Amino acid sequence: MSQRTKIKALLQSQQTEIDVTVKGWVRAFRSNRFIALNDGSTNNNIQIVVDFENTDPALLKRITVGAALSVEGKLIASLGKGQTVEVVATEIEILGDSDPEKYPIQPKKHSLEFLREHAHLRFRTSTFGAIFRVRNSLAFAVHQFFQERGFVYLHTPIITASDAEGAGETFHVTNFDLDNIPKTDTGEIDFKEDFFGRPTNLTVSGQLEGELGAMALSDIYTFGPTFRAENSNTTRHLAEFWMIEPEVAFNDLVDNMDLAEDMLKYVIKYALDKNADDIEFLTQRLTEEEKTKPQNERSEMTLLEKLQFCLNNDFERLTYTEAIDILKESTPNKKKKFVYPIEGWGTDLQSEHERYLVEKHFKKPVILTDYPKEIKAFYMRQNDDGTTVRAMDILFPGIGEIVGGSQREERLDKLEQRMNEMGIPTEELWWYLDTRRFGSCPHAGFGLGFERLVLFVTGMGNIRDVIPFPRFPKNAEF
Ligand code: 4AD
Ligand code: MG
Repeated sequence: MSQRTKIKALLQSQQTEIDVTVKGWVRAFRSNRFIALNDGSTNNNIQIVVDFENTDPALLKRITVGAALSVEGKLIASLGKGQTVEVVATEIEILGDSDPEKYPIQPKKHSLEFLREHAHLRFRTSTFGAIFRVRNSLAFAVHQFFQERGFVYLHTPIITASDAEGAGETFHVTNFDLDNIPKTDTGEIDFKEDFFGRPTNLTVSGQLEGELGAMALSDIYTFGPTFRAENSNTTRHLAEFWMIEPEVAFNDLVDNMDLAEDMLKYVIKYALDKNADDIEFLTQRLTEEEKTKPQNERSEMTLLEKLQFCLNNDFERLTYTEAIDILKESTPNKKKKFVYPIEGWGTDLQSEHERYLVEKHFKKPVILTDYPKEIKAFYMRQNDDGTTVRAMDILFPGIGEIVGGSQREERLDKLEQRMNEMGIPTEELWWYLDTRRFGSCPHAGFGLGFERLVLFVTGMGNIRDVIPFPRFPKNAEF
């Protein structure tokens, strides 16, 4: 028996008339003769030709959609259309049967909602195979980008006692017996009795610890899971998502924008090169989906064109204040088409506004800077105008905000003053403030929402479809 060869390699094989062993799952079986077999190494199936006259009928019956097979046979140049090679089987072994009556993934189009309910099996569809291979490449490319530039990958903690964004959206971590929580004499929860001796939560961001690393290692990045208990049941939010957070000593906001733009282009290009087949498949998928929409809602570009366009154009950079002026004067605002009308300076932008700027006004990715301090986190560097901070958000077509970042406030007095104004406890963050006490320096960083990146590159419409097992309100199945 020859060693197993992956289907991707077989389909690219220059040699034919060789003995091969191939293993995978049946995608389809037609005319008792042709098996479409897939092993996840590529979206394309290999065709197995069965000599049904000389095969035990009992075995033939067990070749059903979803079954796992091991096939030995000869790789030959294909006579049929649609493939260059196929395998003429000499020996078929059923590794695992699949009851065709009960197997949920049939060789037909299933809705994404249906597949979300069968997330344990959706990897076996062409769409999800493509998505998760692209996701894998993007993750690898992120590491490669930073490693090539001498960044240190820093593992920041998942359990923390702080809320870096100060938004109060944390999940508590405890090992209390919830039916019998220790109380103090005054009736409050006695956290001294808890595992860590204090209230703790899952991290919402690795940034604060990342900054500590950057203040010695200069260039660091984190890439890990983050958790937010925001009750947003949207196509852009998850309760558990992965974030990439570089932090760079001596960088200012312009350096920060350059780094983010370079990184985004690098990883998108990597996926385009590495996953050409998958992206072509996803492009066709999206084009089909677009056809079901009314003409005026259809995208002008295909997925592939959108990705290439993103690589070939500089991102538009402007301030929040300039953006507000554009939005105020925009047709949808004047015609009262926005759900949240733009009335004046100071309010946060909604995704309808972000998408107007990106998709209608500039028609390319946009970086907005210098937001009002009231709508941004305490750690952002304050501008001399007293009202704005050195923030940046990168907005992408179809997505809205994909990156949030800033130059950091490196001046101890300004930082403490802002924390006091915002009610952030300075005593608890003594370790963070120490970096400003001992050798503080200008520095900047950002957070890229990994699933929003995968959403953009795959052209999918719902963030729940680009992470293997999504966590969102009222759902933690699998
Ligand atoms: O803008 P955010 O909240 O920024 C931070 O957390 C900073 N500490 C980052 C930094 O400067 N180091 O989040 C960063 C990005 C957002 O732009 C978005 O892409 C993504 O994280 N994000 C989410 N993705 C999925 N689900 C959610 N609930 C998300 N919340 C934020
Ligand atoms: Mg943000």
